[in-house]
Amino acid sequence: MNIAVTGGAGFVGSHIVEYLVKRGDNVTVIDNLYTGKKENLDAVIDKINFIQIDIRDFDSLKKILKDVQGVFHEAALASVQDSFSKPEKYYDVNVNGTENIFKLAKEFGFKVVYASSSSVYGDPIEIPIREDAQKNPINPYAKTKLDDEILAEKYSKQGVDVIGLRYFNIFGERQSMNYAGVIKLFLERIQNQNPPIINGDGSQIRDFVYVKDVVQANIMAMESNVKNAFINIGTGKTVSILELANQIIKSSNLKLKPIHKEELKGDVHDSKADVELAKKLLNWEYKIELKDWLDQTVSNLLKNKNTNQ
Ligand SMILES: NC(=O)c1ccc[n+]([C@@H]2O[C@H](COP(=O)([O-])OP(=O)(O)OC[C@H]3O[C@@H](n4cnc5c(N)ncnc54)[C@H](O)[C@@H]3O)[C@@H](O)[C@H]2O)c1
Repeated sequence: MNIAVTGGAGFVGSHIVEYLVKRGDNVTVIDNLYTGKKENLDAVIDKINFIQIDIRDFDSLKKILKDVQGVFHEAALASVQDSFSKPEKYYDVNVNGTENIFKLAKEFGFKVVYASSSSVYGDPIEIPIREDAQKNPINPYAKTKLDDEILAEKYSKQGVDVIGLRYFNIFGERQSMNYAGVIKLFLERIQNQNPPIINGDGSQIRDFVYVKDVVQANIMAMESNVKNAFINIGTGKTVSILELANQIIKSSNLKLKPIHKEELKGDVHDSKADVELAKKLLNWEYKIELKDWLDQTVSNLLKNKNTNQ
């Protein structure tokens, strides 16, 4: 199959690309390398068609996407904190850029599976969060993700097959400093034998889902008969940020205590997915446990550090 992945040099996108290449698809990566890195594609670079363009460049996109059967759309500006100082830029990339993909899906008839976000819910009234819960985004980034959903609905009505996956907090190899960067930040601190820094008291709860499980959700959504839906992609389990910090310290066997700093603006306090719809529509469930991954990753990090010294 001819498949394109926007944001394919980023964290989630590069894992999708690796999976598709292994499966034997003909993969085109579209990325302007704003936060993405070509090194993220090192394992597959000889087997893909990498095109460095901006998703706001409609004419170039049109030439590239005319023969594809599906697009995984991951490209976005994805930092909540950064979005407060650049709301217009976030709107332009995340909303206008996404509409370009939807417009071309309408013209050429390909299916789109794209990255929405649990941030569309804002601070939830009920936990776990069901897909039909109230949407109340509390930062400019999250607002762009809700605007994308409104666009997805508009194009669905015009016959476009488009599925929005509402990712919860993703963790895994090659994670960028964006959305769920807390795990990456904690791991970097631990690697240098420093205690994790927690914003606030650490009572915030998060639903962390492994990046390769997220890849599977994307693939299953693309292959399913479902044409239009917004689906939570999480585990339905949570950990508080304080528990996470303590878990990472425990995995490291270091004698450390987390440090607390000020709470972040625009940070949702509690997040936990209701995962029934993903099971029902896609037959998808998470497989990898955060704790197992952390144990393995922390031990590898410290081993590498010691052998490099
Ligand atoms: N990582 C998470 O936990 C998480 C959670 C919810 C939603 N999401 C969404 O998932 C998607 C992927 O996130 P990620 O964590 O991999 O982020 P990332 O920053 O690693 O990847 C985004 C990619 O998009 C590219 N990009 C940015 N602007 C572009 C533009 N104008 N034109 C072309 N390419 C552009 C970047 O260079 C980067 O490679 C994003 O849409 C993000 O909003 C991520």
